[in-house]
Amino acid sequence: MRFRTRPLAWLVACAAATLGAVPFAASADELPVKVGFAAPLTGANAGYGKDLQNGVQLALDEANAKKITIGGKTAKFEIRAEDDQADPRVGVQAAQKLVDDGVVVVVGHFNSGTTLPASPIYNNAGIPTIDPAATNPTITTRGLANMFTVISSDAQNAGNAGVYAVTTTKAKRIAIIDDRTAFGQGEADEFEKAVKAKGGTIVTREYSDNQTVDFSAQLTRIKSTNADLIFFGGLDRQAAAVVKRMKQLGMNAQFVGGGGVMDADFLKLAGDAAEGAQAWEYGSPLDKPPEGKAFSEKFQKRFGVAILSYAPFGYDAAWAAINAMQKANSIDPNVYRPVLKTNKFDGITGPIAFDDNGALKNASSTLYQVKNGQWESVVTKHGM
Ligand code: ALA
Repeated sequence: MRFRTRPLAWLVACAAATLGAVPFAASADELPVKVGFAAPLTGANAGYGKDLQNGVQLALDEANAKKITIGGKTAKFEIRAEDDQADPRVGVQAAQKLVDDGVVVVVGHFNSGTTLPASPIYNNAGIPTIDPAATNPTITTRGLANMFTVISSDAQNAGNAGVYAVTTTKAKRIAIIDDRTAFGQGEADEFEKAVKAKGGTIVTREYSDNQTVDFSAQLTRIKSTNADLIFFGGLDRQAAAVVKRMKQLGMNAQFVGGGGVMDADFLKLAGDAAEGAQAWEYGSPLDKPPEGKAFSEKFQKRFGVAILSYAPFGYDAAWAAINAMQKANSIDPNVYRPVLKTNKFDGITGPIAFDDNGALKNASSTLYQVKNGQWESVVTKHGM
């Protein structure tokens, strides 16, 4: 692993300084700290991306207000945001731009489909990536020394959904639809594995892509199997389209979603069809601990909108980096990385500490259900 100490932007900055220009608007006692961020900021997943960015920005605002000293200077944390459009190819380009810009850490990406191809780019440049949302289990099993995640994986979350489907709901005929992304397919695989391990029966597995708006074909086939539970591996808007169509087709099967379904956009888009829907989501409910409520209020006040879903993970991911840099007294990844790896702190989403692979230790996962038009938490599981 090599930290590129002299990225293109740095060389340009030095050249500009030699020519008498002022490359950064930073005073001599200020230390600019470029925090890379990449997520979908346009397209169908833009709501998630903006929410995540706001979580990161809130952490940086707070850190700047604290006037943290690193290497004898006051750190000035600045976000460098790239729109990866939830597209693996654009994600790779966004990663290269952030590396060339000289970021010293990256919080991102949102989708597993972009995180998987982008993370080796950061890794080869020696830049730690703290993943706040992408949950494909292979993200932390590829031996990347710079990969960290503050969220549980789909082995845990969708695995819990599979165990739940068989042992708690006692569904006898289970159907699966997934969006064929690295995320949706990964979730569906983990769900299926857990169902089979518990002796459950999968009657059919159907596919869409992540642009599908009409699930008639998949649901008509599922209806003909008399499935009593449908698991959907995909995100909020498409999950809403599935439950709406299920209702129109007169289907009574239970709906169980994986991560990314439990949010206000699902409720808004699904309308009446949302009632009774269930979804497993990463982490523990934010509305229970007082600090969770305080965080929600602070977020609403700062951005004028409520948290959609992953903002608290973005906030904790940013603080993981800030804490490590402060403790290491350096923004050089080679110096702060070992501290990041071993540092523990109480995040807004729970205790943050990493295992040897950079995965979140003691991760949790929660079942939610729509009751009277609102998501309510039902049970939280720590581990599987
Ligand atoms: N958890 C979702 C993914 O991995 C956002 O793509």
